[in-house]
Amino acid sequence: MSTTLHYFMANRAEAQRLASGLGIASLPIETRPFPDGESFVRVGKSTSTALLYCSLDRPDAKMVPLLLAASALRDGGANRIVLIAPYLCYMRQDRAFSAGEAVSQRVIGKLIAASFDGLITVDPHLHRTPSLQAVAPGIVAITVSAAATIARTLATMTTPDTLLVGPDEESRQWVDAIAAPLGLDVMICTKTRRGDRTVEIALPDKSRASGRPVMLVDDIISSGGTLNACARLLRAGGATRISAVATHCLANGKDLDSLFENGIDPVRATDTIPGPAADISIAPALAEAICAHNFV
Ligand code: R5P
Repeated sequence: MSTTLHYFMANRAEAQRLASGLGIASLPIETRPFPDGESFVRVGKSTSTALLYCSLDRPDAKMVPLLLAASALRDGGANRIVLIAPYLCYMRQDRAFSAGEAVSQRVIGKLIAASFDGLITVDPHLHRTPSLQAVAPGIVAITVSAAATIARTLATMTTPDTLLVGPDEESRQWVDAIAAPLGLDVMICTKTRRGDRTVEIALPDKSRASGRPVMLVDDIISSGGTLNACARLLRAGGATRISAVATHCLANGKDLDSLFENGIDPVRATDTIPGPAADISIAPALAEAICAHNFV
């Protein structure tokens, strides 16, 4: 079987790391804007299986080139095209929270399912949707967990008294999966969202943070509002040190600075989205899933 990995330049480093781990060739996808703002896309030579690497942060500008690239690979002879989207966009809008809102998760899932034969992503934010398969109907949909990768990293950053704190009930799955191999204590808070950048956090028992280091764990850091709200309460509760780790860090430089200014240090994430905090490679976990499903 012949497999090649195709990538957009925004993900060159991560895609090349993955291809090298898999021992397969990787080819850049050429893109440029036409004067009218439309996208020109040209892919390299197709093999029978094409892995297309495109992390879907800042997705609105990426979706059209992605669909064009998939179509060009198909035209070039690929009979199986698998999207490797380490970060999968629009998963949080899984229903219309008030009348007139688009259900973005459903729209994006259908678009992907119409162009690809498989989808691999890392810790998708599925809240009310039972599985990734329900998001991308009719194709092979694979969720890779970053928990083991993060736990290995935390092994050198934590002490036996470190308290792992998740901001809300949704985070429990990730916090528990990371804490278990390390044998660390867990505390899960309650979160109420007040706006795009504002949340209220309640600690179940702030005395548990007293006199010990705390590691905040979440799937996504976006504006940083959630982690900042947690950190303020934990510091008031006597935490000696506060750091944070997430699967995906979407935060821009200014929002990351606000985390550091608020005493959260370090802030680390996997490289599902390239950025200053993204120093934990997810490539080995992706490679394992790709091999397990015989995509190479
Ligand atoms: C949502 O529930 C996610 O798990 C994260 O907690 C959320 O996306 C973080 O967003 P922000 O950094 O903007 O507070």
